[in-house]
Amino acid sequence: MQNIAETLKNNNQEHLLEALNKLSGAAREKLEKQIEAIDWEELSRLIREYVMQNPVTTIPADLAPASYFPLVPNGAEQEELYKKAFEKGVELIRAGKTAALTVAGGQGTRLGFDGPKGTYPITPVLHKTLFQYFAESLARVSEKYGSRIHWFIMTSELNDKATRDFFRSHAFFGLPEDTVHFFTQGFMPAIDYSGKVLMSAGDSIALTPDGHGGTLLALRKWGCLDLMKKLGVEYISYFQVDNPLVPVSNPLMLGLHAMENSEMSSIMLSKTNAFEKLGNFCVTGGKLQIIEYSDMPKELAERTTNGKLDFIAGSPAIHVISRSFVERLTAGGKLELPWHRADKKVAYVNADGVEVKPEAPNAVKLESFIFDALPLASSTIILEADRKECFAPTKNATGVDSAESCREMLCARDARRMELAGIRIPRKADGSPDCIVELSPRRVFDDADAVEFFKSNPAQAPERNSSTAYG
Ligand code: UD1
Repeated sequence: MQNIAETLKNNNQEHLLEALNKLSGAAREKLEKQIEAIDWEELSRLIREYVMQNPVTTIPADLAPASYFPLVPNGAEQEELYKKAFEKGVELIRAGKTAALTVAGGQGTRLGFDGPKGTYPITPVLHKTLFQYFAESLARVSEKYGSRIHWFIMTSELNDKATRDFFRSHAFFGLPEDTVHFFTQGFMPAIDYSGKVLMSAGDSIALTPDGHGGTLLALRKWGCLDLMKKLGVEYISYFQVDNPLVPVSNPLMLGLHAMENSEMSSIMLSKTNAFEKLGNFCVTGGKLQIIEYSDMPKELAERTTNGKLDFIAGSPAIHVISRSFVERLTAGGKLELPWHRADKKVAYVNADGVEVKPEAPNAVKLESFIFDALPLASSTIILEADRKECFAPTKNATGVDSAESCREMLCARDARRMELAGIRIPRKADGSPDCIVELSPRRVFDDADAVEFFKSNPAQAPERNSSTAYG
């Protein structure tokens, strides 16, 4: 107690001591535990550097666009490389050397959905949730390649229990339960503009997830790295919970990653416009770096050569990460990634115990980003992908990157696959499907699966305006 009191005083957080002194029993123990879990010296440094002043992101003068492997191979040699890489990727999946990792600890505030984002119903016909969609895709890839792909799901304190309960109550969507592994990311206290840690209740600090950069340390802390090693997993396919169009396992990318000895690889998409909300792949001092859309200077974002954006390469946050890279980065249980400041409205309980719901940002949340690990990798590659095949993020309720646009993209991709299988799709004048179709990811993982599936399950062409699920 003496220690806690001194620590809090030395770090200008006496209000927490006052709160503690009002408590007894379990409530007191809870707050004490939270206080003890914080590295106060480090937090005070972060408050000085990121809260009491607004840190300026310095853009290096030598910032240049990053190069990448193009979507369509550039000549016969590259074509051969892609072919070999695809085969290598399949071999790695078959040998059980790959695992999937979904980051699902975020709060999903923009979507306005109360609950873990993965429990959001996303598919256009059957309203399958994001988690179910990924689970069925993984089941199909495992079946297709005669493997057992393990799935690591990162939650946060805010949604860990709800996420686990959801999987349990849905019998893990048919996946073997021992192949699904939850682990919780770390947290950071929310800090008000005077540098004080906020409280969310009389007996609790307002804690917020520490950003997806927290994935790396959390993998070590919860024994996931050891488990992967035991299972023989060498490569981690990383993706975000908000993107159901992502191939949960990408043989070409996995193969290229391994063949090029990359430690952290990334998918890139051509941005639709200079200010699309995607991180930008850049190179500085010979190192790959992602500059977040909000930090990219306007003149650089807009710069063109021959009518094409210089910084055309946007990140859909799809990576392959070597387990050995995560082990190296987190050796000793520490990892220094830069922090990023976000100004947010954070509800809190004031000194009189009254709950305050601010209408304007009142606090700073600090987050670290997984892509800040890129410059720490000894070798990296970027592979271009077709947006229509891999990126339909569900960030907002309506409009751009919304549940609505995501459903349209899922339907468009499945309609295209049905045409490949010889089924006529009625189309509108603008070329989009004039019907809603949904293929089960449990049956169809890729184009070849679609052709196979309809060979053994012949289907009529869908009617205009109809809504049909297959598989
Ligand atoms: C993110 C990327 C951006 C990328 C875009 C693609 C950041 C800062 N930016 O933007 O570069 O182009 O996606 O869609 O990530 N998450 C956690 N724990 C956290 C915070 C987030 O697990 O503490 C997870 C979320 O659940 C989600 C993902 O990380 O799956 C992305 O988080 P979000 O805040 O939605 O990032 P964006 O700003 O959309």
